[in-house]
Amino acid sequence: MSALLQGKTALILGIANKWSIAYAIAQAFRREGATVLLTYQGERLQRSLEEIGGNLGAAKVFQCDVSKDDDLANLSATLAPEFPKIDIVVHSIAFANSEDLARPFLQTSRDGFRLATEVSAWSLVGVANAVRPLMTDGGVIITLSYLGAQRVIENYNVMGVAKAALEASVRYLAGELGADNIRVNAISAGPIKTAAARGIKDFSKILEAIAAKAPLRRNCTPAEVADTAVFLASDLGRGVTGNTIFVDSGYQIMGL
Ligand SMILES: NC(=O)c1ccc[n+]([C@@H]2O[C@H](COP(=O)([O-])OP(=O)(O)OC[C@H]3O[C@@H](n4cnc5c(N)ncnc54)[C@H](O)[C@@H]3O)[C@@H](O)[C@H]2O)c1
Repeated sequence: MSALLQGKTALILGIANKWSIAYAIAQAFRREGATVLLTYQGERLQRSLEEIGGNLGAAKVFQCDVSKDDDLANLSATLAPEFPKIDIVVHSIAFANSEDLARPFLQTSRDGFRLATEVSAWSLVGVANAVRPLMTDGGVIITLSYLGAQRVIENYNVMGVAKAALEASVRYLAGELGADNIRVNAISAGPIKTAAARGIKDFSKILEAIAAKAPLRRNCTPAEVADTAVFLASDLGRGVTGNTIFVDSGYQIMGL
């Protein structure tokens, strides 16, 4: 079988290190023949991301902090000279104040709520709008969500609300962009040990609960999430838009 993403150019936002889900997605996209362009959040990550980009064979590595209007406004201009057509965007970004992931949800502050939803949900809309001019031949936008968007998960708190806004944003973007053959989907991944996950209190207990209860009796792997991203990004996924697809060893179907 030929490579599934041959000839496609993918912009991947959200690699912090080799444990990032976006790293596994970049690896899988390269395996399938895509040209990958990586962004990192800020200068602190520049050196390590350039090294990671080199190892992955990325065609470009540059900064994009989604909380900065200038970085978003510059996205298309930075890419256009070398990469006038973007086929795939992977948004793998989230942030919340750690205290909002530890105290009762009831005590979430106005600023904490705004920060979590802005960085973790609105940023998908901001990135889509910024890259849209380069998606000239249809396209695919993929973001990462979690079950806490739909169910109450202890300590996920404001991030669950942000993920609910993210999943709703996926549907609204899919509704609008479908006319231009741009598909928008979320992958709801099971828990995976990453830097972001370490911010969630008692994360290891969540991993243990999934391994005990999920139909597959184990946690999902970054590579499984990445292969689903390949499916969505490739022509195999051409009929799928506006969805949240679970890659979680089946955990979300379970009751007691
Ligand atoms: N790890 C899990 O258990 C899990 C499960 C389901 C969904 N997710 C989601 O997957 C996505 C990736 O997280 P991860 O687990 O790979 O952790 P990670 O820490 O490796 O990735 C999070 C990324 O968000 C980036 N980021 C945060 N604020 C940013 C900003 N202002 N501008 C640009 N980038 C910013 C960070 O730099 C980092 O690269 C997140 O949306 C997360 O919520 C993670």
